[in-house]
Amino acid sequence: MTQAKEYIETHKIRFLEELFELLRLPSVSADSTFKNDVIACAELVAERLELAGCDLVKIEQTLGNPIIYGEKIIDTLLPTVLVYGHYDVQPADPLELWDSNAFDPVIKKTQVHPEGAIFARGACDDKGQMYMHIKALEFMTKTDQLPCNIKFMIEGEEEVGSQNLGIFVRKHKSMLKNDIILISDTGMIANDIPSITTGLRGLSYMEVAVTGPNRDLHSGLYGGAVANPINILTQMIASLSDKNNKITIPGFYDDVQELDEKERDEMAKAPFSLKAYCEALNVDSVHGESGYSTNERTSIRPSLDVNGIWGGYNGEGSKTVIPSQAFAKISMRLVPNQDWEKISVLFTQYFKSIAPKSVKVEVTTHHGGQSYVTPINHPGYRAAAAAYEDTFGVSPIPQRSGGSIPIVSLFESELDSKTILMGFGLDSDAIHSPNEHFGVWNYLKGIETIPRFFHHFASNAKK
Ligand code: BES
Ligand code: MN
Ligand code: MN
Repeated sequence: MTQAKEYIETHKIRFLEELFELLRLPSVSADSTFKNDVIACAELVAERLELAGCDLVKIEQTLGNPIIYGEKIIDTLLPTVLVYGHYDVQPADPLELWDSNAFDPVIKKTQVHPEGAIFARGACDDKGQMYMHIKALEFMTKTDQLPCNIKFMIEGEEEVGSQNLGIFVRKHKSMLKNDIILISDTGMIANDIPSITTGLRGLSYMEVAVTGPNRDLHSGLYGGAVANPINILTQMIASLSDKNNKITIPGFYDDVQELDEKERDEMAKAPFSLKAYCEALNVDSVHGESGYSTNERTSIRPSLDVNGIWGGYNGEGSKTVIPSQAFAKISMRLVPNQDWEKISVLFTQYFKSIAPKSVKVEVTTHHGGQSYVTPINHPGYRAAAAAYEDTFGVSPIPQRSGGSIPIVSLFESELDSKTILMGFGLDSDAIHSPNEHFGVWNYLKGIETIPRFFHHFASNAKK
């Protein structure tokens, strides 16, 4: 047994209990009623960083939620790894769909996780994955084998767009100086098929409001003669994609980087079962842009989705009414080399242009971020691949993900460093959904694998 395995075996009950404490704090960044829990969570993370061996820990206030900075500098001549993670979580709603309380973690066995999984909001995204790094640091400092400098930056607004983190990063470039950024906030293919995320999609998040008559109207007196904002909005949304499921916004695909056949063939080698994919979601068939595989549709191709739509009467029974207004939240996932600000402008112009004269349309941009890719010949990628080989016994598969961590491209432009995405979650872990969970095996495997990354990265840097 390796020293790490032994250490983890000895301390695993405590490692789980400590994570549970974090998970019990409902640090929902989207909802200000949880402000005190967010602050309590930041304080707990800071305390844990100190206990794990950081020499300096600061809770940095921002206009929004606090950012925790920690560091252990052992020798300024050695390389520095900056670990990023987030302690904020998505809202737990709809609460009634959880089998147990979202903020009262429990371990339950599942088919995918026969050793048990931790069920709680944030278990996988991202408290569980972030905390693996704190426990990996504990292992490295307690056994005297931290091979390089380490910095931590743990934020509390990732789930709402990381706006204040962007400001913080621009202001503290020298404090955050590093040779590589390491993040566990993504997933892998399966527990026996480890993968490293080599790409993230960008994001452009919009909200639209369609206004018709100046008040809700009797749908009998006015029906058929006045524009119904919900009818109009749904027609407008429907026209944003064509019969091949291509997005119709003019210029939308102009900057999309097309992959050549060789690159697409390479991607297609990643193991994937369409049948299992459909079964896991209980759908009879998939849906997406013609000419692309499911994996391509969620990684190298952009997409557009309505995240929410409302207006009119939604209460009990019926009410005969033409609503005055209708609203929708619409997000677009973007790929290299689309620019999210340009896409937001294209969306706004097009959406306004397709509105009939009978309504007024307002479009606002919420937030966004650029896409990101890591080349697989980068020393950071190679160190990560070697780490997985050590602990999984197989080479990880490079795979681009469909999700977004918008701050990663800002790290590249502002701090001039690449990010390695070592995620240990699974797609079936239900992040952002009811019954989010994280495999106990995955949690402990992460704690075991992360020190191997430090080892390989530091020893390659020395050569
Ligand atoms: N950890 C996720 C992103 C993720 C998950 C990437 C799995 C790849 C695989 C992150 O917390 C997240 O949810 N990001 C948001 C973007 C944010 C601006 C709200 C997302 O992708 O919707
Ligand atoms: Mn996350
Ligand atoms: Mn998330």
